[in-house]
Amino acid sequence: MSTVDLLSFHRSMLKDDIRLNRFRRAIELCVKSGDVVLDLGSGTGVLAILAARAGARIVYAVEATEIVEAARKISRKNGLDDRIVFLDDLSPRVQLPEPVDVLVTETIGNFGFDEGILGWVGDARRRFLKPEAVIIPLSIELFAVPVELVEIYSRDIDWEYTQSGIDFEPMRSFAVNNLYPVRIRPENYLAEPRSLGEVKLGEVTSTAFAADEVFEITKSGELYGLGGWFSSRLCNGVSISNDPADPSKSWSHAFMPFQAPISVAPGDRLKVHISCANNGSVWRWRLDGSAKSSNAGHGKTETVQFDQSTFLGSPSMASHLHRHATRHVPELNVDGRIMSYLLDHMDGKRTLEELSVLAFESFPERFSDPAEALEHVRTISVEFGR
Ligand SMILES: C[S@@+](CC[C@H](N)C(=O)[O-])C[C@H]1O[C@@H](n2cnc3c(N)ncnc32)[C@H](O)[C@@H]1O
Repeated sequence: MSTVDLLSFHRSMLKDDIRLNRFRRAIELCVKSGDVVLDLGSGTGVLAILAARAGARIVYAVEATEIVEAARKISRKNGLDDRIVFLDDLSPRVQLPEPVDVLVTETIGNFGFDEGILGWVGDARRRFLKPEAVIIPLSIELFAVPVELVEIYSRDIDWEYTQSGIDFEPMRSFAVNNLYPVRIRPENYLAEPRSLGEVKLGEVTSTAFAADEVFEITKSGELYGLGGWFSSRLCNGVSISNDPADPSKSWSHAFMPFQAPISVAPGDRLKVHISCANNGSVWRWRLDGSAKSSNAGHGKTETVQFDQSTFLGSPSMASHLHRHATRHVPELNVDGRIMSYLLDHMDGKRTLEELSVLAFESFPERFSDPAEALEHVRTISVEFGR
């Protein structure tokens, strides 16, 4: 994400009054005077500040991106320097000096689990939380609905793949296997939305999620895919959701497009399977239904089956599939060899300049001049050095 995108991402979340007020209420209800709080995914530090103001003795605020430097300044500006400790890393890589009474995290994605909340909370529960610790949010429930989204489908999936006489059709199989952040409206529904299940974060042991549902079509139309969103109980009495019927400013909705649009009519039944793995980064959606395909003749009903996954939506994932096989024997490419060489030579004695000269001499095929080597060494040193 560029710096401008990072700043506007946080600005829009801070300007979403509903989101902030709900989290503030939940924090005020759950944080007691003297508590130790963990704010996981702290961003600008806003929830850490609310927790400190609610009486926390100390807040550990963990943030993986560079916005943490702004958060430090914001906490200082608000006089909370001595009560908020920022840790600038991904939460599974940090250690805390003491057990935690309250975990607060707003790592909720458009489709609930797609920002990794199940894995982050699972790890925090194992390593940081007291047995009786409170977790905000308490739970997350996912919802899905068959949708008619003609404009989005024709823009993202069914665009004119021949451009300047060149056939770009191979891009379609990637396009159709992705989860799109879109704005869905209730008028796009072709059936009643259904819950896919609720996960209580205090009981989470796995980052995988799977659900099977049957939808009965209530409105004639063209089915383009499934829409998805979440509803989360932050604590007893305080909830937040991106339900399309009650949209919030901070989240879009998830759109899982189907391989091809299908004509549906009231009474058609669609069996749907939706699952996620790899801590919310890989999604799969399957359809097993009897409906009228757009390609079939008028009134002709056929069985339609689709089985799609974001695993197939990433061009690099698809072409590197063999590298995931357990029997694959990996070896370092040139970037791996440079990384290994530099990590070996960062021994607390050599300067960046000395390291860059070594790197330039050892990997002439990779660096066109010493300045380029120095830039690379700097990046590695910021990431892995101190
Ligand atoms: C949706 S933003 C919320 C930021 C802030 N808590 C708020 O409410 O405005 C989520 C933030 O969590 C960070 N993040 C996500 N997962 C993380 C993890 N496992 N460890 C550290 N930071 C994480 C992201 O970089 C992002 O800044």
